Amino acid sequence: PRVTIVGAGRVGSTLAQRIAEKNLADVVLLDIIAGMPQGLALDLMEARGIEIHNRQIIGTNNYADTSGSQIVVITAGLPRKPGMSRDDLLKTNAKIVVEAAKSAIAHSPNAIFIVVTNPLDVMTYLAWQATGLPRDRIMGMAGVLDSARFETFIALELGVLPADVKAMVLGSHGDLMVPLSRYATVNGIPITELLDAATIERLVKRTRNGGAEIVELMQTGGAFFAPASATSVMVESILLNQSRLLPVAAYLQGEYGLEDVVIGVPCRLGCGGIESVLELTLTDEEREGLHTSAQSVRRNIERSQE
Ligand code: NAI
Repeated sequence: PRVTIVGAGRVGSTLAQRIAEKNLADVVLLDIIAGMPQGLALDLMEARGIEIHNRQIIGTNNYADTSGSQIVVITAGLPRKPGMSRDDLLKTNAKIVVEAAKSAIAHSPNAIFIVVTNPLDVMTYLAWQATGLPRDRIMGMAGVLDSARFETFIALELGVLPADVKAMVLGSHGDLMVPLSRYATVNGIPITELLDAATIERLVKRTRNGGAEIVELMQTGGAFFAPASATSVMVESILLNQSRLLPVAAYLQGEYGLEDVVIGVPCRLGCGGIESVLELTLTDEEREGLHTSAQSVRRNIERSQE
């Protein structure tokens, strides 16, 4: 199989490394900067003997080289600077993502698309619109990352293995995300048995601010290691038809009382893309959180088209 990554920046190039070194697929890295994706591809190819895999990594500035991809991941666009919200990237990234989605689908009409560019939910919606794809074949990555951050903070607080913590974060990728604390567990034990309410609230707050915390520390750009890992899990579930139940930004058609909007919900990911959307029973507060999230995504979809 072949995966195209549009945008060979920090998230894109790290994702290329993950996909090749996990031996999941050959990778085409595309960027507008001449020579840059070609250089990265050569560098990754030179590591193959050491990492022991035989995947091809191609760097290019030309969409013709991406043809026949099973998956297209869009990471092209600007990242945040300190003090910026994801929504500040709206208009610039909208143009880039729409153009990338249209060019990529022209060469890979059967591909499944994963959008990573921020503001995530809006960009996924615009890419859905631009490609005209059925909703099972286009989605955004955010929930897997937000959940991993929540799990990390729970694990740090309790001093347990991060892999033993399971949590899910729904909603939009931003301050309005909806972490489902009552469903979070350490090997099946609810965290509400292990932590008091004030501590859980503190961890939820840190999760909401998880991206900004890293932007503030780094000053140049944002997180990319965990975002690349999170995206590679979605790629893997699709390529290997694992049917994993993951939080995915999906185009909703009435689920959770929401329609014609993209928002993070639990989905099964397999070889056809989104196999199904799971409709959880939510508390009033969680449901309200999801709807508030959706309203803000809708507002930004409108703003991006003004
Ligand atoms: P970066 O600046 O390192 O890379 C972006 C790349 O896109 C650059 O190499 C740039 O040349 C390229 N690019 C710009 N316009 C292009 C076009 N028209 N066609 C092809 N390539 C183009 O940024 P980074 O850190 O890799 O982040 C990429 C995006 O992903 C940002 O919007 C960031 O906010 C977002 N992001 C989203 C996450 C999520 O959870 N959904 C997590 C982390 C980042």
